[in-house]
Amino acid sequence: MSVPAQSDPILPHAVKLAPSILSCDFARLGEELQAIAGADYAHVDVMDGTFVPNISFGLPILAAARRASSLFMDVHLMIERPERYLRDFAEAGADGITVHVEATQHIHRAVQSIRELGKRAGVTLNPGTPLEAVRPVLADVDLVLVMSVNPGFGGQKFLPASLDRVRTLRRWLDELGSSAEIEVDGGVTPANARALADAGATVLVAGSAVFGPDGGAAGLQRLRAALV
Ligand code: DX5
Ligand code: ZN
Repeated sequence: MSVPAQSDPILPHAVKLAPSILSCDFARLGEELQAIAGADYAHVDVMDGTFVPNISFGLPILAAARRASSLFMDVHLMIERPERYLRDFAEAGADGITVHVEATQHIHRAVQSIRELGKRAGVTLNPGTPLEAVRPVLADVDLVLVMSVNPGFGGQKFLPASLDRVRTLRRWLDELGSSAEIEVDGGVTPANARALADAGATVLVAGSAVFGPDGGAAGLQRLRAALV
């Protein structure tokens, strides 16, 4: 099955946009979320300082974002043994939870737990991890996240090899008859958004490209315009 809808100019909103609140001004979290109210998801990057070399934020910030916005909360857990905290993130307001295949010994159990909590289950992997690592769990997830930078920080440069990974995943999911989303995260800008959509991505995460000096609404609009 091919994916003509993703590149059909009459369906410019077929690709979902997920601004990462990692790049927003946390002192103005509520306003920043209002500015991106036209997005499809709010992407929430949780980092533990162990799985990645940075600590971002955790449950209280997710709960605050949940109170301030009705956007779908797309939580990306960059934490070791995420199974310890799935229920807490679900209760704090996550709508979808994505876990790293490198962070757990039991990826099927983790994604199954997310589904049992009534949330959309996602799996992801670092750019240096062979794509084959997620293949065994593809039939059991609602979303696959392709990391296009080494996770840990916003504002990094897009790794071009990610495009081929998206194409391969697109093929694998189509062969399975899966309608799981393919999300891309890291270094996404108006300059590469169209190519990612054409490769088969259905959700684009962007932090620094959205929350620039002219505000989240303008940044979001620039990404949308690049996709039409
Ligand atoms: C990276 C995070 C990303 C990051 C994206 O570890 O998972 O979501 O915030 O930021 P940009 O779009 O600035 O690369
Ligand atoms: Zn992320």
